[in-house]
Order: sequence, then C-alpha cells, then structure tokens
Amino acid sequence: MVKAVVLGAAGGIGQPLALLLKANPAVTELGLFDIVNTPGVAADLSHISTPSKVEGYLPPNDGLKSALKGADIVVIPAGVPRKPGVCIPQNPIRPQPNQLISLFLIDDPINAGIVRDLANGIAETAPKAFVLVISNPVNSTVPIVAEVFKKHGVFDPKRLFGVTTLDVVRASTFVAEILGDLSLAPKITVPVVGGHSGVTIVPLLSQSSSPLPSGFAQDSLEKLTNRIQFGGDEVVKAKDGAGSATLSMAYAGAEFAAKVIRAVGGEKGIVAPSFVNLAADKVSGEALKKEIGKELEYFSAPIELGPEGVVSIRPLGNLTDYEKTLVNAALPDLESNIEKGVAFIGNAKL
Ligand SMILES: NC(=O)c1ccc[n+]([C@@H]2O[C@H](COP(=O)([O-])OP(=O)(O)OC[C@H]3O[C@@H](n4cnc5c(N)ncnc54)[C@H](O)[C@@H]3O)[C@@H](O)[C@H]2O)c1
Repeated sequence: MVKAVVLGAAGGIGQPLALLLKANPAVTELGLFDIVNTPGVAADLSHISTPSKVEGYLPPNDGLKSALKGADIVVIPAGVPRKPGVCIPQNPIRPQPNQLISLFLIDDPINAGIVRDLANGIAETAPKAFVLVISNPVNSTVPIVAEVFKKHGVFDPKRLFGVTTLDVVRASTFVAEILGDLSLAPKITVPVVGGHSGVTIVPLLSQSSSPLPSGFAQDSLEKLTNRIQFGGDEVVKAKDGAGSATLSMAYAGAEFAAKVIRAVGGEKGIVAPSFVNLAADKVSGEALKKEIGKELEYFSAPIELGPEGVVSIRPLGNLTDYEKTLVNAALPDLESNIEKGVAFIGNAKL
C-alpha cells in the first residue's frame, strides 16, 4: 500500500505528475492538494482504471492535513514558475526586462514561503513520509524543508530529496540525439551532480553509459554541457510567456518517485542522482565532501536508494579536468544558495 501526495497538484507540473502517479500501479492512494481546482483534477483522474483511489483537497477544512494523512511519499511542485524576460535574482523590485534568469532565487520569497508552509504541514501530519521537492530554487527549497523539519524535531536526512531528475533526463536525451539514435535515450545514464540551477548543474558526460563519439571536440562538449545546464531556458523561451518546463518535469518527477517507491518496496541496487543533505549517510557524505574539497551541507550526487531512503551517496569518481573545473565553478553558488535557504527559516517562528 503506497499513498502518494502531490502538493501543487493543479499546476502545470502537478496535473501531468498526478496523471503519471495515477498510472503507476504501485500507488494505491493518491492525495492531491492545491489552493485551486483539485476537486476537478481528482474527479477526472479517478475515472482512470488503475488501482489508486484519488482524492482532491483545497485549503478549507484542514485540506492540507487531510491530503497528507497517511502519506508515504509527498511530491512538491507547488509554486510559481518563471517567465521569459522576468528576471532579477538580486533585486525583485527593479526588474531588468531583457535579462533571463535561470531560477527564482530566494530573494523572491514566494516559492520559499509556499514550500515553508507546506513543509510545516508535512512535519505535523506525515513526518515519516519521503519528501521530493520540485519547487525551485531546489538548491534553497530543500534546505528550507530541512530547517522546518528540524524545528519540529522530525528531520531525517535520509528521507528528503531535491528532484534533479530533469537534468538527468535532458542529458540522456541530448546524448542520444548526438549519437543519432533516440531509441537509446531511455537506456543512457549520465550522472548529473552539484545542484539544480545553471552552473551548479554538472553533467559528468565522461561517465555517460553510452560514450559520446570518439573525437567529440571540446567546444562541442562545452556547448552540450551548457545546453544541459540551461535546458530550462529553451522551454521558457519556446513557451513564450506560458510557463516553464512542465511535461518533461512531470515525467522526471514521476520517474524519480517510482524509483523511491520501488526501493522502499525492497528492490535493491536502485541509484539515481538527487540533491540531498550529506548527513543522510555519514561515511559516504564525509567522503564526498573530501572529494569536492568543501564543507557543503547539501550536494547532488548519485544516491543508492533503499527502504529507509538514502542508503549511500556515491562518489563522483574519475573526473576529467574539464569536469573538475565545472564542479569547482558550482561550489560558490551552491554554498550561497544553501545558506539562503537555511537563513530563510533562521530563527523565525513557524
Ligand atoms: N525541479 C525542477 O526541475 C523544476 C522544473 C520546472 C519547474 N520547476 C518548479 O516547479 C514549480 C511549479 O511549476 P509549474 O510550472 O507547475 O507552476 P504552475 O503555476 O503551473 O503550478 C503551480 C501550482 O502550485 C499551486 N500553489 C501555489 N501556492 C500553493 C500552496 N500554498 N499550496 C499548494 N499549492 C500551491 C498553484 O495554485 C499552481 O496550481 C515552480 O517553482 C517551478 O520553478 C522545477
């Protein structure tokens, strides 16, 4: 019996994500929460002939609590997506219209506040659930959830995941395109490490399970890396004001959720990159800090999953000189993104 809950279930990501979870036969109950439209989304999904019972909740009458009651896995795509031309990481009051930003930073507190409030609800009602954070900026929203959980005394780093799977999915697809065979895309694995915004996204293309063509030029490698790091911008531009990646994100979120569900169900050897607290496994977490040469609290790396969540954090392994440069370039942004998330909760009363 697995109860999955989607918070932000009526949104661009939330609806297709809920559909994919409804299609997953391992899910037996699906709780949908949003500030709008969940009864309709739930009624629609409930007609699909798969095992799960679907219920939709709105904020009145303790809707969040009802949605979360008995949750085994909670996925959070609630928030506000970015738009083309909307920018200002540093100064939300003075937009610079021609500058496209990669992600909302925590200086824009909308998503941060939404995630904080939802984390509060999870800590109170389903503190043992596995929590998968999609809402951006993941490098900061994951620390926000952790800090809220700490305040409630229920933080278990093994159970909290920042969903970076879209970077992995993009990397696999783009490598398959270069190899001229999209049928390879589902089988290709490319570890993507670091974090989940711009330069903090570090694809380890030298470790792709299907290697790039021999003699693949350095400038092509740099272009490919840049495309993976800023793939979200392609979608934002193409949607031209209608939001950011939703369908590919829903696919990626459902894939990661399915892996967690399978691992919790006892399947062994499941490994997937995710942005986690490095205390989730002391030994491998400390080893990773040594490998990157920095005392970071969070990092995205391939994670071995098990019944309790994180089993171990895999090392980055042999990196090329170029990949080492990318990892080093990611560290300052990561550090500041994490600090911002932690500081957002700080000493505030919840
Ligand atoms: N992790 C990733 O790879 C990735 C990729 C794309 C987008 N995102 C992020 O996912 C988030 C959602 O994107 P979207 O395109 O689905 O946006 P959207 O606006 O289409 O949907 C967001 C939903 O959240 C709901 N919501 C807002 N406040 C809420 C609250 N307090 N409680 C519950 N629900 C609430 C809204 O009503 C809406 O239905 C954004 O933060 C976006 O940046 C992450």
